Amino acid sequence: MKLDAMLPGLLVVVACGGGQGARGPVTAAAGAGAGVIAEPPAAAVDPHLEARRAYANPGGMWMPQQMTLPGHAEAFRKLGVQIDPKTLADPLAAPLGAIVRLRGCSASFVSPDGLVVTNHHCVQRALQLNSKPDQNLVEHGFLAKTRADEPSAGPAERVYVAQAFTDVTSAVTGGLADIADPVARKDEVDRRIKQQVAACEKDRPGIRCNVAGYLRGGLFVLIEELEIRDVRLVYVPARSVGNYGGEVDNWRWPRHTGDFAFFRAYVAPDGKPADHAAENVPYRPRHHLKVSDQGVHPSDFVMIAGFPGRTTRTKTALEVQHDVEWFYPYFIDHAKQQYAIAEAHLKSPGETAIKAGVLKQSFQNRLEKVSGVLKGLTTGDLLARKARLDQQVVAWAAAPGRDGHKAAIARLEQLILDEQRTARADFDRQMAFGESQLLSSAIQLTRWAEERAKPDAERKAGYQERDLAPAIASHKQLTKQYDATLDRALFRLALVRALALPPEQRPWLPLLLGVKATAKLDEQLIDRTLDGWYRATRLADEALRLELLQKGTSKSVAASRDPFLRAAQRVWKLYKAEERRADTRAGELILVAPVYADAMREVLGGLLAPDANSTLRITYGTVKAFTPAEAPFTTGAQILEKDTGSEPFDAPAALLAAIRARQFGSYANADGELPVNFLSDLDTTGGNSGSAVLDGRGQLVGLNFDSTIQGVASDVVFDGSIVRKIHVDVRYMLWVMDKVDGADHLIEEMGLRPRL
Ligand code: ARG
Ligand code: ASP
Repeated sequence: MKLDAMLPGLLVVVACGGGQGARGPVTAAAGAGAGVIAEPPAAAVDPHLEARRAYANPGGMWMPQQMTLPGHAEAFRKLGVQIDPKTLADPLAAPLGAIVRLRGCSASFVSPDGLVVTNHHCVQRALQLNSKPDQNLVEHGFLAKTRADEPSAGPAERVYVAQAFTDVTSAVTGGLADIADPVARKDEVDRRIKQQVAACEKDRPGIRCNVAGYLRGGLFVLIEELEIRDVRLVYVPARSVGNYGGEVDNWRWPRHTGDFAFFRAYVAPDGKPADHAAENVPYRPRHHLKVSDQGVHPSDFVMIAGFPGRTTRTKTALEVQHDVEWFYPYFIDHAKQQYAIAEAHLKSPGETAIKAGVLKQSFQNRLEKVSGVLKGLTTGDLLARKARLDQQVVAWAAAPGRDGHKAAIARLEQLILDEQRTARADFDRQMAFGESQLLSSAIQLTRWAEERAKPDAERKAGYQERDLAPAIASHKQLTKQYDATLDRALFRLALVRALALPPEQRPWLPLLLGVKATAKLDEQLIDRTLDGWYRATRLADEALRLELLQKGTSKSVAASRDPFLRAAQRVWKLYKAEERRADTRAGELILVAPVYADAMREVLGGLLAPDANSTLRITYGTVKAFTPAEAPFTTGAQILEKDTGSEPFDAPAALLAAIRARQFGSYANADGELPVNFLSDLDTTGGNSGSAVLDGRGQLVGLNFDSTIQGVASDVVFDGSIVRKIHVDVRYMLWVMDKVDGADHLIEEMGLRPRL
């Protein structure tokens, strides 16, 4: 709407500007400078340019199979996209077949030898792991000159390559309404999902299967992935390039961050996934992306394929209202205290300071995001839009002949209200049980001991044989991350916050602390108790945890004298009772929640993309700044203006010198400037980091790495006029590789030529 209204102005401004705007000082040597582009640019020859400029992105993180919906073909035609959207419907064909999932990030293959490109901020664990006291890779980055120099990125790194997608909705949900007891219904769903996974993984080592739920339980898809577990570090620019601007610029535009890095996937000589080993060879993917050396222009069509984590657009207005009134503010309040703890330990002795730094960054990132979502929802008209859509959904279900829908939605509202009544007590309890890595390990080990006694197929999901190796890996990871001082401080915070609950809402607290239900609880008691626990515990010892994980029995765990295991024992019954309460709820929801999503899809004429759930999605739109007068690109010259010489604005001397000398070669744009980052109106969220940004031919023109804070409420209500995403331009990436870091061999491996 808004965008259409601005249209006439938009056309004038962009057409006059010519190129990519945002100019730093333009020197004579720059060639085609600002005013030089007298002839009308692409507009005259491109009949679709106006349509692209006018495009108001309606949003949508589309499942590949949804790309056959007629609306997309129409949009692609209008935007002048070369490829047919149907080529994006097959997740195993090019280009989607080249898109891979990492743990928590997205990535893609860019060479026939398993070279994987992702974000700099997605490879931090691997850098930490490979750093030595005299070799700080986190700070200086890394470049393997030859394949023999590519070290393991760590035992927990993974590259997941999709092999098959199968709709298993009827197998998972068929006949559920006939099961009267909600817990039994939930158990049945779990059992069916486990069955699907077991059948899929049977006799197929290296294949990992999971069942993903979409549309509030209205659709289930079995996803098979090749799980590559020998992942190696290939090339990462220095921190002062890859995280240029650091936390100051995080979530913000204009941006000048080289947020890219390379891994390589390795497999055994027989082509099967294997643990890291010298004889392993680079994986040969079926598809890899063609890397463009041309980049994109303002208003160009772009799309992203990746793995967005979580959005809540199919929530009801009632749920969103509760989030706005209670959840986000409460979460933010806690997160601020967590942040303060991390900050208070930045100068602590030993490793604590380093770990506090890592924590601080992640608390800050999350805090800013959630604050941005809340602000976005409460300042514009997004909530009103949510309410309107919700009313349409309810009205649709109230029409004659839809009694089933109507009743289901009424029941859903009831369940939501029930949940909201205990939301704070539930949140505080979950934080208290989850904040300490030692307590959550103790609870998890207690569960493993209990489940291991059962036949594999009957065990709770997450505690089967297939889960043992990942559990071992995560305990090894825990050892590297754990810090007693920080663990205690965060645990203490959660317990102290729970003190404020009325005692009847926190029966677990005296149990956990090992005092009588009638005892007076206060901060002193918590401090004394925790002092004792952290002094006596041995659970920080990896060998002990691994021993318990693999051999513990309910008896041996119950006999342990470790204070954290004893605490877990004391709350165990209550813990499981709460879990049952949650299962009851889930068992009720599975019958009614999908109905709401279904009605929403009807209201939207079939064009509803399911909420993000960490599965492969496609979003498309255009390269676009906030206003038509602004440039959607930043330039190298701007780095010179921004650089202060101190962190986080401390670009390497060689990079600054090359920009000063304007050695951009053919990486320059039409104005002779070096493009660094660009904006689009694409629909992404956390998890989309590292996603390939593709042009209309499916070639890689950039990498997604951030969102602008003004638009993050799109997780709840998408508004294409305010949503802007930040990408690193492929030309900047190539230029840094070529001119600054000498990664020529990788440029060649991607099928391009170094030019500087
Ligand atoms: N805000 C981005 C995301 O949510 C980037 C975070 C990493 N970069 C940083 N400067 N903290 O993950
Ligand atoms: N930075 C986010 C990520 O790591 C992406 C985003 O929130 O835009 O996935």
